[in-house]
Amino acid sequence: MKKYDNVTVLDHPLISHKIAILRSVDTHTKDFRELVEEITTLLTYEAFRDAPTREVEVTTPLVKCKQRMVVENSIAVIPILRAGLGMVSGVHTLFPTAKVGHIGMYRNEETLVPQEYYCKLPEGIEKKRVIVLDPMLATGGSACAAIDLLKKRGCKDIRQMSIIAAPEGIEKLAEAHPDVKIFVAYLDERLNENGYILPGLGDAGDRLFGTK
Ligand code: PRP
Ligand code: URA
Repeated sequence: MKKYDNVTVLDHPLISHKIAILRSVDTHTKDFRELVEEITTLLTYEAFRDAPTREVEVTTPLVKCKQRMVVENSIAVIPILRAGLGMVSGVHTLFPTAKVGHIGMYRNEETLVPQEYYCKLPEGIEKKRVIVLDPMLATGGSACAAIDLLKKRGCKDIRQMSIIAAPEGIEKLAEAHPDVKIFVAYLDERLNENGYILPGLGDAGDRLFGTK
């Protein structure tokens, strides 16, 4: 895959360890959901590295000091339904005040073209840093469509956070939206003929919600 400056792939033994459990067919809903949350928290740590901060004064038991804090209200996360929902609590573990918008999108199983069916965004979204959440970046169609929509609503500072990505999805998103920083926990090998990521983990929505 071509190298893109705006793409960060977490390269860490703990991520590899958790992804191995996540992929396994023997990992069932409860553990799957917890792993998605944990990996998202680790991704959040990385994606917030340059979060907007402001200086505050804090009184410790000993002295007063200046300290930087993340600006409340500056960040919104947008899970792509359904599977992105599983990532929200992982962000809230580290930054509980992040606002949450929702974009409903499903891939047509034959054409793989994403169909939008729901959109509700927080007020003032155009002034916030927006992080799109979707565990799977496969063809990249859903991420591109969600980001197109957010840009039409005036958003200028957009990031994508995914757990597993295919090179095809990263290429499509990085070429279509070079201004969007992409954070992925793990880069997989390729897509199969049905647009599923290999080795992947199957259908993230079904595994999170136990629908199959
Ligand atoms: C899955 C996944 C992504 C999309 C990724 O959703 O959660 O949203 O596919 O594929 P893409 O990169 O090729 O667009 P799906 O359409 O299965 O809907 P669901 O989350 O409701 O199951
Ligand atoms: N969506 C999924 O849930 N899994 C894939 O492998 C590809 C798209």
